[in-house]
Amino acid sequence: MSDHNKYNIDLTMDPPAEDTLRQYYFIEKAKQYVKAESEEAGRPLTACITTFGCQMNARDSEKLRGILLDIGYEEAPEEEADFVIFNTCTVRENANTRVYGRLGQLKPRKKKNPHMKIGLCGCMMQEPEVIEKLKKSYSFVDIVFGTHNIYKFAELICQRYESKKMVVDIWKDTDKIVEDLPNERKYSFKSGINIMFGCNNFCSYCIVPYVRGRERSRKPEDIIREIKRLVADGVTEVMLLGQNVNSYGKTLDEPMTFAQLLTEIEKIEGLKRIRFMTSHPKDLSDELIDVMASSKKICKHLHLPVQSGSTQILEKMNRRYTKESYLHLVEKLRAKVPDISLTTDIIVGFPGETEEDFEETLDVVRKVRYDSAFTFIYSKRTGTPAAKMENQVPADVVKDRFDRLLAEVQSIAAEVCAVHEGTTQEVLIESVSDHDPSMVTGRMSNNLLVHLKGDASMIGSYVNAHLTECKGFYYLGELVE
Ligand code: 5AD
Ligand code: SF4
Repeated sequence: MSDHNKYNIDLTMDPPAEDTLRQYYFIEKAKQYVKAESEEAGRPLTACITTFGCQMNARDSEKLRGILLDIGYEEAPEEEADFVIFNTCTVRENANTRVYGRLGQLKPRKKKNPHMKIGLCGCMMQEPEVIEKLKKSYSFVDIVFGTHNIYKFAELICQRYESKKMVVDIWKDTDKIVEDLPNERKYSFKSGINIMFGCNNFCSYCIVPYVRGRERSRKPEDIIREIKRLVADGVTEVMLLGQNVNSYGKTLDEPMTFAQLLTEIEKIEGLKRIRFMTSHPKDLSDELIDVMASSKKICKHLHLPVQSGSTQILEKMNRRYTKESYLHLVEKLRAKVPDISLTTDIIVGFPGETEEDFEETLDVVRKVRYDSAFTFIYSKRTGTPAAKMENQVPADVVKDRFDRLLAEVQSIAAEVCAVHEGTTQEVLIESVSDHDPSMVTGRMSNNLLVHLKGDASMIGSYVNAHLTECKGFYYLGELVE
């Protein structure tokens, strides 16, 4: 794990200015603080990161975990850990409420445990009102940082050891991308890879552009190098991550399209599966569809958030496509990649949504027949244009629409899922089944899960499974030798 002694860190010197080196300096320094505290406690110190929200946050948490393990923390469940970190989400208001609730529960534990630390990071911390509230009512929190400076975690831990006060470090935005820091993957055989950060789309309901900042792409050579390293370390499936992967490369000094990046990644030997998310329909090019159609590695699954089926609502959402153009895109995709599975995100109750608008959404759901859909009740986010719009839809109307949408989505998904029954599919075994220790769970290219007899030794391997029975959203299968 600790291969950074190659950097010849010397703690008697001032911290280096260059970002990567500087962080390895603070990792060494934090290691000494943690060692001393752990000697004082007479036991190893433990930590736990709890991740809320999306895959971006999950990947950020792997980076934080890499640093924590490097500086000498051991992992423990949240209820027992000395250092509890919440990597937060703020896409919907209830995500914030949950964090405050969880923080309230930690307070009495901190009183009892002199080694306890609490860290907060992620999207919610990028909201100024949140920071005010934390300072005022949650002053027992130790370290608060945002989405732009997670790479500084070790440095902030050192600051906390030195100052004994709440450390707050929030950046409004950055164009900085710091490469080559440690990270600790959750799965040995698959990994998320950030290919870009931030978002420039400003969908009118969405807070992400305000908390994740402007769009910036990593250089292709850095991405390829990271994937090659991961493959050498046993990874065979990658998930390329970005808020809008279809606009990858536009901001690079030497611009490159997402389709071109995929073509380069496809060439990496030993890599078997490529996934990506999230795609914005407005930027999904014919070039990308062609690359998906001819690829041997890109999985037969596309997450294509529609948000609403009403052209009028889509316009108010600033999505920059219409119902018709979305349906046309789906047609084009299915014509070139016939067995592709499609999933989506849908928001119900956007300001001004009428029953007719909602019917249009149901119509899209019926026409596209998604494999699954994440359905959300619109949540008003202060600071976004939609928060100031008139005609906010009454809660009971939204709830009724939400229930109707969910019923439709689920019944269609069950039908769509069942079409593979009786076929044999390649699956990547991911884990021992949560419900039955004699079973393992694997994932098909189209993202559906299959449960079959097996044991932990199969994790990370590709096997052929005969899909004997569809259980609605997953399959029971049998190993085909
Ligand atoms: N209210 C409800 N859902 C939202 N999303 C984003 N912002 C909001 C909001 N204010 C949903 C969108 C997006 C997904 C990640 O979260 O559907 O695609
Ligand atoms: Fe939010 Fe729209 Fe950007 Fe997605 S594309 S993160 S919904 S602003």
